[in-house]
Amino acid sequence: MKNLLAPPHVNFGLQVDILANGLPRLRIDEIGGIYQRYNQTASYVLIAEPDLMASSAIDVKSTRDTDVLCFRTSTHQQLEFTVQHNPLRLTLRNTATGETLVDINANDLLHMEHYRRRSDTDDTRVEGMWEETFNHKPDSKPKGPQAFSLDIDFPSHAHIYGIPEHAAPLALPPTDGTSPRRTPYVDNSPPYTEPYRLYNLDVFEYEASSPMALYGSVPLMHAHSSRSSLAVFLLSASEMWIDVKHPSNHSTSTQWMGESGIIDLFLIPGPSVEDVFAQYASLTGVVQLPQQFALGHHQCRWNYFTSKDMLGVVDGFDSIDAPVDVLWLDIEYAEGHKYFLWDKRKFPDPVDMIESIAATGRKTVNIIDPHLSRDENFYVYQEASDRGLLVKRPDGQSEYEGWCWAGASSWVDMLNPAAWDWWISLFSFEKWKDSTRNLFTWVDMNEPTVFNGPEITMPKDVLFHGNVEHRDIHNMNGLLFTNLTAQGLEKRGEVNERSFVLSRSFFAGSQRFGAVWTGDNLGTWEHLRSATPMNLANSISGIMLTGADVGGFFGDPSAQYLVRWYQTGAFHPFFRAHAHIDTKRREPHTLSEPYRSIVRDVLRLRYTLLPLWYTAFRSSTRNGMPVIRPQFLVHPGDEAGYDIDDQFYVGAAAELLVKPVVQEDAQSVGVYLGGDEPYYDYFTHQISFAKEHIHRTLNIPTQLDTLPLFIRGGSIIPTRERARRSASLMVRDPLTLTIALDHYGEAQGRVYLDDGHSFDYTRDAFIDRNFTFSSISSDVRGGWALRSTQLEPGMSFTEGEEIEIERIQVLGLKEKPEEVITSGQLLQFTWKEGVAASGGEEGRASLLTIKKPLVRVRDDFEIVG
Ligand code: GLC
Repeated sequence: MKNLLAPPHVNFGLQVDILANGLPRLRIDEIGGIYQRYNQTASYVLIAEPDLMASSAIDVKSTRDTDVLCFRTSTHQQLEFTVQHNPLRLTLRNTATGETLVDINANDLLHMEHYRRRSDTDDTRVEGMWEETFNHKPDSKPKGPQAFSLDIDFPSHAHIYGIPEHAAPLALPPTDGTSPRRTPYVDNSPPYTEPYRLYNLDVFEYEASSPMALYGSVPLMHAHSSRSSLAVFLLSASEMWIDVKHPSNHSTSTQWMGESGIIDLFLIPGPSVEDVFAQYASLTGVVQLPQQFALGHHQCRWNYFTSKDMLGVVDGFDSIDAPVDVLWLDIEYAEGHKYFLWDKRKFPDPVDMIESIAATGRKTVNIIDPHLSRDENFYVYQEASDRGLLVKRPDGQSEYEGWCWAGASSWVDMLNPAAWDWWISLFSFEKWKDSTRNLFTWVDMNEPTVFNGPEITMPKDVLFHGNVEHRDIHNMNGLLFTNLTAQGLEKRGEVNERSFVLSRSFFAGSQRFGAVWTGDNLGTWEHLRSATPMNLANSISGIMLTGADVGGFFGDPSAQYLVRWYQTGAFHPFFRAHAHIDTKRREPHTLSEPYRSIVRDVLRLRYTLLPLWYTAFRSSTRNGMPVIRPQFLVHPGDEAGYDIDDQFYVGAAAELLVKPVVQEDAQSVGVYLGGDEPYYDYFTHQISFAKEHIHRTLNIPTQLDTLPLFIRGGSIIPTRERARRSASLMVRDPLTLTIALDHYGEAQGRVYLDDGHSFDYTRDAFIDRNFTFSSISSDVRGGWALRSTQLEPGMSFTEGEEIEIERIQVLGLKEKPEEVITSGQLLQFTWKEGVAASGGEEGRASLLTIKKPLVRVRDDFEIVG
């Protein structure tokens, strides 16, 4: 490899592995350098050391100048990976289509700085080579320069996505100052001229459209075209910058720059969007199956100040019959911001409060920030200090000290294996007496935030276990905290409960440990508009349980704004209202009419749809697909949809399409209808479709209570129509199936149910059903059959045995059936005339309602009509 700065005796090695499922992994490292570059990120991020393909399955052809590796992926792609030696160039090609998928170093930007001694450096004129100052904050850079850079081209792909977290459009705009294809959601937003930055930071009042760094990072980039989908994953937790440009209308060129560590690059070849997600999940894992309550509505605020205040909020929800699952406590619950210690003047009996809330079917979450007040009387700090578990100053000896909410603070070093069991032990009921199984955890400020540090984080040269510099692991600090906190919750007592942890900082793999949110957004319309693309970007980066502060963290926005926020947030996977300490109270019951009722109805709608959400999460644990999906994932061949990020699909099979209203005083919105399926308005059952198989924008007038929501024809969606006070109170409620037929008069769907909280589902305690509705017009008895079959054999979910299907509605049937029968029994039904899905007409769909189908969810059944 060429390296302009390196003298001839410096060597770099390229290791190419082909993983068992056909993913090429490239690692570049300095050989025999003065130090070893940090190479342990993979051990924290990947679920396991990946298996390699048998060498007998790889056909290697080497000449003097090239090595060509030919192999087949588990998705049956025939690939060819070529290493051209001089100049070095690495390409991945699909041999069947001839398409070059990835081209590395085509622009000669692959460089790695070698380690050197300061005394050997003759060129001290390069500023910042040895020490740097940022805003008067020094970085001693003890190992000197160690950056890397590489260019990755996608010669056949013009659309790229991913690399969160940025408040940016989903289809990543170029960073070379040229105009994006689609104007972002921010009025007059100038084109980007800076690279996308990945460096987890606590950014005060962040901009609504910018490539600047935010709280989380996932160095995964998707490239998509109508011919194929693929991704690249550059596994480094150091600071990274990524430039993007389009050399032509059908290609993309990117440059990645990292501050330290090895280059560890995975090529994820697809070729379908589903393949890409399964392949990425094979590396970093799938989402944790959340407890059912985690998918309900969360009410947070900085701060509820007393136990009475908390219970008052619960009463507020009950007083207007609005559901809520979790009440949250921000930092003011903790005495002197010493987390784990309740301020007993405000919360005299925390266990009693948590259990009183639990008695109403709700959970409590309180915040545990990772900074420890350096107070000798604070047991958590004392224990960490005594055991030597804290991050050290660059001298490697003394405890690093910085400022955060608690004042002078130190930070737990999660690279130290001795810290793991200790951190887990803090959550045990024996140790944390003021906690119960109904209390869960919010880990904030874990980028980490240090108020007096450079860019409000730790200096890069502070030391972690093994003399690892902060710069090498910065972006995965939050991941480590979330991992260990989730383990703490799972291991306390013999509770057999799934954990719930919310984290602000995240990295690749964070999906395995809980939820994330997009930090301190503003209560502005621009920020509301940015929330959906941000959550979509997280979703396609594996981070499935993602949300934003509903209502906006800062500000006192109007009631109209809050309504629009609830309507949007109700369709984001993690649905939590939150607000800054200086804002006015804005819980739903504090609103005036009609806003209060509209918000209540939106909350109820979310709860009605919980079976669909839960099924989507379960499905994602098997195939790695996002639970909310942008247009390009659902209609991968429809180029006109590739830039769309202001509407999205929800569900295991993208059954719902939602278009949040995010403009002030909006009179109407345009909904893009892709594909050839009919779309049913969720509320009116009006059928619309893209006529003659051409996409179409449907204009919908928007009153304040209008939420453009559609069922995609061909879907069967499970709902629970009685919205109760909380999700936990609904787990045994009967289901309604809504069958929205496609053009052929057919549909299918799925429902997954379990107890919603324990790990018993891993021991077969669940119900997982597949529903199909198909025409059997040759059958003398009638025209169609709805069948329920077992998808996965769940055996012992005894609580779920009696759960019934209480109602079935079929939308878009052609004819009223003469009779509807199951197991020889006639069923009662009603019929409303309307348009048939197969008729090619628009209008209100016909509606067949079977009131009491007399079937249980767990049973195989057939209903014919
Ligand atoms: C940070 C968090 C915010 C929280 C506040 C106080 O700003 O992002 O959600 O309310 O700290 O803990």
